[in-house]
Amino acid sequence: MEGKFITLEGIEGSGKSTSLETISKKLTEEKIDFVVTKEPGGGPLGPPLRNLLLNKDAKISPQVELLLMMADRKNHLEEIILPNIKKGIWVVSDRYLDSTYAYQGGGRLLDISQIDKISKILDLKDPDLTILFDISPEVSLERAKKRSDLDRFESEPIDFHKRIRETYLTLAERYNSRFAVVNSSLGFEEVELEVNKVIDNFIK
Ligand code: TYD
Repeated sequence: MEGKFITLEGIEGSGKSTSLETISKKLTEEKIDFVVTKEPGGGPLGPPLRNLLLNKDAKISPQVELLLMMADRKNHLEEIILPNIKKGIWVVSDRYLDSTYAYQGGGRLLDISQIDKISKILDLKDPDLTILFDISPEVSLERAKKRSDLDRFESEPIDFHKRIRETYLTLAERYNSRFAVVNSSLGFEEVELEVNKVIDNFIK
């Protein structure tokens, strides 16, 4: 049987990385074979592309940014996601295609139909489950700032992040059969409980 494909989404500082540990623990307890990966930069092409995309001094237009994200994703899908799934191994990815709709569509205001077209041409697989960590950018950007220097995305104004959040919520409504929304402004233990519940329901 094929492995399942789970993606984690959310704005900067929404707690995806912390919850990745919760999910890993849960899948291990359930004796499920899985790998954890991330975008951008999860495939062999990753490190140089990721450095370029996050570099504040890089001059990259929204359309070029979109194409780089999509190239990174196709490489990640071909080399990491699909080979694992075909072997029956579950794949948990920190960000995937919904990030492009939210950031390049919502954030950079690119026409959604451009993203739809490229995604179709590249034959991108849909995730089986997407967990959206929802939080207001006012709260989450404070968290991100404390963590490290801000990268090219994190340094964008608050409205950019608000549009990203709204786009994510719209996607979660439209594709509600694969989306689960977790309220990330709750305390650590409550979020952990929610995430475990989502995984439990999914496994059943
Ligand atoms: P990263 O350091 O991985 O951020 P995070 O820890 O928040 O996931 O940087 C990834 C950045 O790239 C993040 O700001 C979101 C952005 N991004 C896009 O704009 N489009 C995409 O398709 C993807 C996958 C990421």
